Amino acid sequence: MGKDVIIACDFGSGSETLAFLGKFGAERPFVKIGMELFYAEGPGIVRRIKERGHKIFLDLKLHDIPTTVKKAMSVLSRLDIDMVNLHAAGTRAMMEAALEGLARPGGERPLLIAVTQLTSTDEERMRSELLISLPLKETVIHYAKNAKAAGLDGVVCSPLEAGRVHEACGSDFYTVTPGIRFAGSATDDQARITTPEKAGELGADYIVVGRPITAAPDPAEAYRRCVDAFVGAR
Ligand code: C5P
Repeated sequence: MGKDVIIACDFGSGSETLAFLGKFGAERPFVKIGMELFYAEGPGIVRRIKERGHKIFLDLKLHDIPTTVKKAMSVLSRLDIDMVNLHAAGTRAMMEAALEGLARPGGERPLLIAVTQLTSTDEERMRSELLISLPLKETVIHYAKNAKAAGLDGVVCSPLEAGRVHEACGSDFYTVTPGIRFAGSATDDQARITTPEKAGELGADYIVVGRPITAAPDPAEAYRRCVDAFVGAR
């Protein structure tokens, strides 16, 4: 795998999601299913989307004691997902346990990606609430290195950080990057945004794109434009 556009299906119901995916004709984009949809519909929605032939990134951001995460990952792996994530803050022991849980009988497993620091966490909150006084950027790279050392496949980060993550963890360590907008379009609630072309140039491996595709008048056209811009950029 590598270098692909993942559509964030941030819908509240399965019916809305399936109606949206129906707009893509024979095309089967890689999709991200987050907590809202998963908790509303349960694992059945993952099976239904998978049956249609889509690759799935299950964005549930696990964070618990290692044994619990291992067992939960084992259940998620059986849903035949392609990518899943957890919080690097859960420590290396938790990340290693997650990998053990994901392993399938045939030896393969879904990609495991770490969340470093959520973009909603700023340096002031890190200092005053979490008692972490190092610069945010330093903690992001440190967490990425921990994830790499634990054997994970990559991290979620800004495309603007993709280069530094690759420098620290190697070019084969995936960067999965949200915050993507077409040039000249609405930023919504995203503060630091990058176009698909720029994300490609910066070395992002996967871009996660929600509203620029889900809210477009013609989602399939917007998706195609995004793929052409991103994949054509390197
Ligand atoms: O609609 P939009 O393109 O902003 O959606 C981006 C997706 O990426 C959403 O599912 C959002 O939750 C996710 N995300 C993000 N920023 C992060 C981590 C995840 O936008 N730092």
